Amino acid sequence: KKIVVLVSGSGSNLQAIIDSCQSKLIDAQVAAVISNKPDVFALERAKQAEIPAHVINHKDFTSREEFDEVVAKQIDQYQPDLVVLAGYMRILTPKFVQHYTGKMLNIHPSLLPKYPGLHTHRRAIEAGDSEHGTSVHFVTEELDGGPIILQAKVPVFADDNEEDVASRVLVQEHQIYPLVVKWFIAGRLMMKDGQAYLDNERL
Ligand code: GRF
Repeated sequence: KKIVVLVSGSGSNLQAIIDSCQSKLIDAQVAAVISNKPDVFALERAKQAEIPAHVINHKDFTSREEFDEVVAKQIDQYQPDLVVLAGYMRILTPKFVQHYTGKMLNIHPSLLPKYPGLHTHRRAIEAGDSEHGTSVHFVTEELDGGPIILQAKVPVFADDNEEDVASRVLVQEHQIYPLVVKWFIAGRLMMKDGQAYLDNERL
């Protein structure tokens, strides 16, 4: 089975998924990596793993629709079973989302439905939350609003700054994202009528 991973940054979640494919935890291969940003470390990780990588710079396009169309064309060249968004920092057009309905996952660094969007760690700290975390979900047209598959919690301590919380969250992300990808690839996970199911049980 084949996975295409979309990235915009350091790619540590990409790395966790690559490693899990190599160790056979996930019975699939990362067929390609696509970044909307040049020169990000995720591209270096792809190169190291000898995975084809493509930069499609959103700044080269005048509309989201045009950009997403080119990204979709590139993805579809690989005919993947699953599209994984791993720190991919673009808002998706409805057409793009619909094209991959039930086949596209995202990880978002908050305990959704809390804090969709940006600056989640800062917002959790400013709200005085003692608990924060991360969520893996199916992608739907609502930003960070698709059905949640798995979450992991981390504590927030009184003297934490954003980086403290971010690194604590990342450790959890590297655990739960490969696990969810494994479930999907094994055919255990699906989205139906906007709900997520694992082994036919609603999550
Ligand atoms: C992760 O925390 C992810 O949840 C968020 O951006 C970060 C990406 O990190 N969307 P990396 O690029 O996988 O290292």
